[in-house]
Amino acid sequence: MTKQEMIDALMLEDFSPVYHEADRIRKEVKGDDVFVRSIIEFSNYCNRQCKYCGINCFNQNVKRYRMPLSEIVDTAAQAIAAGYRTIVLQSGEDPYFNGDNAKRLGEVVSAIRALPTAYEPEPDGSKPILDITMSTGELPYEALAHLRECGATRYLLRHETSDPELYAFLHPCGTLEERISCLRNIKKLGYATGSGFMVGLPGQTLSSIADDVILLETLECDMAGIGPFISSPDTPLEGYPNGETELTKRAVALCRIHRPELNLPVTTALGVLNPKEREDAFSCGANVIMKKVTPTKYKEAYSIYPSTIEETRIMEDRQNLDKMIRSLGRRPV
Ligand code: 5AD
Repeated sequence: MTKQEMIDALMLEDFSPVYHEADRIRKEVKGDDVFVRSIIEFSNYCNRQCKYCGINCFNQNVKRYRMPLSEIVDTAAQAIAAGYRTIVLQSGEDPYFNGDNAKRLGEVVSAIRALPTAYEPEPDGSKPILDITMSTGELPYEALAHLRECGATRYLLRHETSDPELYAFLHPCGTLEERISCLRNIKKLGYATGSGFMVGLPGQTLSSIADDVILLETLECDMAGIGPFISSPDTPLEGYPNGETELTKRAVALCRIHRPELNLPVTTALGVLNPKEREDAFSCGANVIMKKVTPTKYKEAYSIYPSTIEETRIMEDRQNLDKMIRSLGRRPV
């Protein structure tokens, strides 16, 4: 699709033919499999000042925590035992873990790689493949290379918005150019590369959402997380209107049509605004879901946006997730 075609599509009164096309392409290219990932939010310390984010460094009302190495590894082991084959390690840009070219982060990755459970054979006798996905912010090339050597296979770093001025307004401590350069390094190092953006940011235009979709193509992304902006208390964007779930799903559908091979999650933020929307997004082109396995005691402190806190029961949660996916006629993988 051309940029203008995308803008026109985003404005359609009745988008249902586009949803159908996105769903058809999803089925043709990805089948009915839904990839299920577990996510551990292991630290909420952050150096950055992102205006939308509830854990930005200026928010004094956040109780900061860092999970000890042993607890991160134990949580990963439980996730593997519950059937997950992807562990997403997410944190703020935490100088403790990211220092010395991410030495401590590397220790976490290596320790998870060394888990005996990571190599228990699957029921059919094959060796399971464990993917470790980093979602730990912008890092220098050497740090990214080190993590790759330790065994990390994927990296998530949303570009957030492709509009350079809006990006600069939202991020007093970084530029879109730096973000893109980091994403290029991630790609160059052979990570499966995930970017993505928020929908409904203050001042965002439909034209810049079309540019967001095009940027995913330019960066040769393998995955893209697209979620609505949710206004967070104690941030400079407190009180701004939330992004629309309908526009978010439209953006997901356009991504599926524009880049059929992308892995597209139904994002948590979509479910926060309306739980039904998260399931709905599976018929708009999405084929991935992430589930938090973060221990319950840390969850409240990892509020990048407001949401209800659910108790973590790793095994039970996974079973319920599989059930939900099957109820949609899809297959959890
Ligand atoms: N609303 C929606 N998404 C947010 N993120 C951070 N803060 C918010 C918010 N207030 C998203 C960003 C970030 C990802 C981890 O969470 O896109 O990359």
